[in-house]
Amino acid sequence: MALLPILQYPDPRLHKVAKSVVSVTEQTRKLIKDMAETMYAAPGVGLAATQVDVHERIVVIDVSEEHNDLKVLINPVLLNAEGEEESEEGCLSVPGIYEKVTRAEKVIVKALDENGKEFKLEADGLLAVCIQHEMDHLQGRVFVEHLSHLKQTRIRAKLKKQRRETL
Ligand code: NI
Repeated sequence: MALLPILQYPDPRLHKVAKSVVSVTEQTRKLIKDMAETMYAAPGVGLAATQVDVHERIVVIDVSEEHNDLKVLINPVLLNAEGEEESEEGCLSVPGIYEKVTRAEKVIVKALDENGKEFKLEADGLLAVCIQHEMDHLQGRVFVEHLSHLKQTRIRAKLKKQRRETL
């Protein structure tokens, strides 16, 4: 296993649209293991392959406190979304920034697991938020892009300053 470098916003590679996984192979499973390890080490509750510069439709999520409920979503498709809820989000590609985003309250998705088997998942709360956030990454969208242009400009300036200070 290996820790993978996470692309940092506003890296243009975060805006690439991921392609569907054609077949789930040993190589896919190795990537998933590395993504999970990278997510747990960060620590974070979700990671999309886009964030580690692999532009395939793969997401790992674990919103449990014990880090023992890993969910792997390959080629996720949103089947249903209902309600609306605003909650604070952060992202491993946008360190130190937490902003409120409005998303569907409940979602149903179908996806393939790490063995290529299709499953359906009904989610609400943090898991629903996380699924939508990670699926956005696969479309090349970072959560701050849900915010106003003014806020996005401020965030980019803040990140630039943070990076200068840590050099
Ligand atoms: Ni993110």
